[in-house]
Amino acid sequence: MYNCYCLFISLFYYISLVHADEDNWIFPDGFLIGAATSAYQIEGAWNTSDKGESVWDRFTHADSGRIEDGSNGDVAADSFHRYKEDVQLLKQLGVDFYRFSLSWTRILPTGYANVISKVGIKYYHDLLDELEKNDIKPFVTIYHWDHPQLFQDMGGWASEAMVDLFGDYARVVFKEYGHRVKFFFTINEPDVICETGYYLGIKAPGLQLGRYGQYVCAHNLLKAHARAYHIYNEEFRAQQKGKIGIVIHSHYYYSKYGNDTVSEDVAWQFAFGKYAHPIFSKEGDYPDSIKRRIAENSKFEGLLRSRLPTFSREWVDYIKGTSDVLGFNHYNSYNVEPILGSNKTIYENDDGLVYTHDPKWPKTPTSWLRIVPSGLLDNLRKIKDNYGDIEVYITENGIADTGELTDTQRMGYLYSYMKAMLTAIKTFGCNVKAYTVWSLLDNFEWQNGYKERYGLFHVDFTDENRTRSPKKSVPWLTNVIKTRNLQPPMDGP
Ligand code: GAL
Repeated sequence: MYNCYCLFISLFYYISLVHADEDNWIFPDGFLIGAATSAYQIEGAWNTSDKGESVWDRFTHADSGRIEDGSNGDVAADSFHRYKEDVQLLKQLGVDFYRFSLSWTRILPTGYANVISKVGIKYYHDLLDELEKNDIKPFVTIYHWDHPQLFQDMGGWASEAMVDLFGDYARVVFKEYGHRVKFFFTINEPDVICETGYYLGIKAPGLQLGRYGQYVCAHNLLKAHARAYHIYNEEFRAQQKGKIGIVIHSHYYYSKYGNDTVSEDVAWQFAFGKYAHPIFSKEGDYPDSIKRRIAENSKFEGLLRSRLPTFSREWVDYIKGTSDVLGFNHYNSYNVEPILGSNKTIYENDDGLVYTHDPKWPKTPTSWLRIVPSGLLDNLRKIKDNYGDIEVYITENGIADTGELTDTQRMGYLYSYMKAMLTAIKTFGCNVKAYTVWSLLDNFEWQNGYKERYGLFHVDFTDENRTRSPKKSVPWLTNVIKTRNLQPPMDGP
């Protein structure tokens, strides 16, 4: 049962939906709609010419049983060779922009900025040419999880050396592409990198370093993001006049019990505030609630200091304000409730919470992903409550299918989430400027391999031509984009 506040808000939300007039589902003027991918998930050509090895190359080649279908991204959707075809898919959809990421080791084969690959640089220029010809704006993510294996051997994001190394790479990117790219995102989903790559070990680099390792990773990612931002700001912004931000994801968290007024916020601060607060709040630094829980827990467990590292005053100031826009990825919601700590700890897992799904929330092929459109609305409202009217770009939203072309569930999902977003904009004044479907085409879905397919376009991975075919959602979405009017899909949500 939700608490009263939530009930009231949900009621208000549904009343506002019922009473919404037709115009309410028209997108605001200047609103941008696009589709996203990332380099490792679609490009393939993992060792073409001088490309260096990334952590994802190493992780998938290790054949350790950690990729569900034993696959890898060696060829993936082969977009390295088929990017022109992909731009035509974007054209067919009529999107305003394409969000894609750059492969660090394709551009800098050794990882270091002194050796720049001609082939790598040219590939992204060719892609940018093609986008330009078709009047599609590039939204460029500088880093979507595939850092150089060499730097991982030196500790990866557990090492502060990455701050300079990432900054050097970002500078090469701005210098090469900044005259033609007006939207940069530094890092995709830092929390997924640290939680799944350094704590759970289910994504590259596959480490289980405990919560301390996870927090050190977060600390270094925040510093690296800020370094890239300052480089852009000081060396490039005046001539290039673009925008730069970070991409953070969050589920929404609903307290399971009506009298629990705390858990919802604690969960949100642990997942989202940990990254957003240092950058977007007035005071900077990590949110107090998470600092307090982690410090108390660390003390109780006999540690000499909190396992959440401390930012010096200089770093707090250096990180604060380092985003022109917030890139926000959202898919799913959880119910949360407190659990009693064991005799070894006060707050189990530092947050002291258990996460479950309400059985009423519709399932999707992805076990962690349930359909809860109000979660997007509640996130956007909470972002506004916490950080004011910052510009929000929804940089990912979507669900998987299992290979069918009749993706009725996807249409219903996209429709209901976009409706929630438009409600956030029109009823609650949230400053959302863009919406992005994940993903343009089926791709390598990390540890789930090719089993979960998030594409608007189906890709035949058994065919060497990697044939792309539109799913049923394509004509519907194309019409929404063309008319700027969110009409329900024919089959209904
Ligand atoms: C996001 C990630 C994407 C994609 C998506 C679907 O967390 O940024 O790369 O995999 O999830 O699971």
